[in-house]
Amino acid sequence: MSLPQNIVILTGAGVSAESGIDTFRGGGGLWEQHRVEDVATPEAFARDPDLVLRFYDMRRAAIQEKAPNAAHRALARLEREWPIKVPDGSVTLVTQNVDDLHLRAGSERLIAMHGQHLSAWCTACDTRHAWTGPLIDRPPCPACAAPALRPDIVWFGEVPYRMDEIHAAMAQADLFVSIGTSGAVYPAAGFVRLAREIGAETLELNLERSQGSAWFHETRLGPATQIVPDWVDELLKTR
Ligand code: OAD
Repeated sequence: MSLPQNIVILTGAGVSAESGIDTFRGGGGLWEQHRVEDVATPEAFARDPDLVLRFYDMRRAAIQEKAPNAAHRALARLEREWPIKVPDGSVTLVTQNVDDLHLRAGSERLIAMHGQHLSAWCTACDTRHAWTGPLIDRPPCPACAAPALRPDIVWFGEVPYRMDEIHAAMAQADLFVSIGTSGAVYPAAGFVRLAREIGAETLELNLERSQGSAWFHETRLGPATQIVPDWVDELLKTR
């Protein structure tokens, strides 16, 4: 394989698993305690807003007790030490995760396509606000005072954020790497096929083969805190 310049990395819940944050579909995963249709859809929010707000309040509180792990740190290091800088090359990190562990590890070219726990969205005035506390008591929006804040999370049936930027990065990519995601949720699950269409190399790093495994040129299996730092070391040595 020729040396890549533009790398797009997609992460999922598996990258945060060893920080103590449940994945969605694994044993003991999130949806076993709460059915997805009970919490992660606009319809569920309309039907039972207290359940949905309580659920996300719990998750928002929980992630603030967790810390980035060696996989998050290795990806931040790759971005920092990648010698080819914009406009000639770049490392872009697209995450499906709604925790803030990539940010806390130091990643900067980061696209949180499914939103963020530490943000609240006012559905009355369409503003977003950094948010660490609960929403269950319907606090007023800091901009318009309406009690209309909801989790700034992309629910099933809603369009993920910043898709134009993701497509622009994918169009330039010569290496696409998927880390810790089951490949079950679109559009992220389709990125590997986009990458193949434009001729990029594709690599999967995961605990086990994902649903989209067959699309990757190479799959490396193991816990993210081991295989991600190993891969980053290897890649930086090639430059
Ligand atoms: P999943 O729970 O579907 O998949 C997690 C993947 O991580 C699985 O393939 C596991 O094998 C792998 N994994 C678990 N522990 C790991 C470890 N220590 N190291 C490496 N890999 C590990 O989570 P996602 O693919 O992220 O959407 O789920 C995608 C989306 O589904 C989420 O963003 C969420 C959910 O609906 C929204 O909230 C909108």
